[in-house]
Amino acid sequence: MDDLKEKYLPRIADALDEAALEDIRLAAVGKKGEVALKMRELGQMDPTERQIKGPILNALKNEILSAIAAKKAGLADTALDARLRSEWLDVTLPTRTRRRGTIHPLSQVTEEVTAIFAEMGFSVAEGPRIETDWYNFDALNIPSHHPARAEMDTFYLNRAASDDRPPHVLRTHTSPVQIRSMESTGAPTRIICPGGVYRADYDQTHTPMFHQVEGLAIDKDISMANLKWVLEEFVKSYFEVDDVDLRFRASHFPFTEPSAEVDIRCSWENGNLKVGEGDDWLEILGSGMVHPKVLQAGGINPEEWQGFAFGMGIDRIAMLKYGIPDLRAFFDSDLRWLRHYGFEALDVPTLHSGLSR
Ligand code: PHE
Repeated sequence: MDDLKEKYLPRIADALDEAALEDIRLAAVGKKGEVALKMRELGQMDPTERQIKGPILNALKNEILSAIAAKKAGLADTALDARLRSEWLDVTLPTRTRRRGTIHPLSQVTEEVTAIFAEMGFSVAEGPRIETDWYNFDALNIPSHHPARAEMDTFYLNRAASDDRPPHVLRTHTSPVQIRSMESTGAPTRIICPGGVYRADYDQTHTPMFHQVEGLAIDKDISMANLKWVLEEFVKSYFEVDDVDLRFRASHFPFTEPSAEVDIRCSWENGNLKVGEGDDWLEILGSGMVHPKVLQAGGINPEEWQGFAFGMGIDRIAMLKYGIPDLRAFFDSDLRWLRHYGFEALDVPTLHSGLSR
């Protein structure tokens, strides 16, 4: 039995893998293994001898089995160590710089404008860019042969002679959303509507598609004074200055009466715009008191309600605030331009955290 022990224990210790261990187990303590053969010999022994050798054989069997189990665990540990070593990662390596997209200045400015007016209780309304000529013109007190239609350089949609649907246009301004929101929310109401508009025009300051933000406030007693305050608050917040000087110039729009174009005081020093100081004036929007006919077209009784409206060019105020010289660049999708003028994707403009950082 000592021979068997000396034969198997070193082999177990030297086994290189689990398959070799299994061979040893079968040869030593398997059903036909050497220990089993010895057990069978016990039957031919006399009882006294059997009583001595039986337990010794059992002990031998157990010793071999536990040596195999210990070796097996050892082999598994070694294998794990080897794997850990080969799959090692240096987590302290610097990461690759990722190319991140930026927020387009027009999206940024739209968010800024929305944040400012939201603070004053205006919610955002939207309307379709393909409009009927009724919403774009007639409802806004611009009948068929009104000269304002010709001035707008309108894109009309092609239609077959047999088509009896109303004529459609690409909206030339965001004002049709005034009518749509009067229809859907009635009075009182306070909305802004930012969005794309279209006119057939193309040079350094005109593109066939550009952006406006419309404002509309309707209530029982609203006057030009409310309009002036709202616009002053807006301009101060937007240009991030403490004081502004606004100039209301009498003007004409078919859908407002009275109408005013609004300029802000500014200076141009070496081509740099400064808002709130200087002797220059910069036109930024058209505005006025909503014409009674327009209220009526929107289903609101002009005897009971009144309101103000304004329309401002988003592209224009973006160019002014961020010093962007050519409007056309907004629509070129030039990555170098976007990286230069774009904004961090996760900086959401709010009045408390700062509009633009
Ligand atoms: N819709 C006008 C334009 O596009 C702007 C405007 C809107 C003027 C609302 C007055 C009131 O020029």
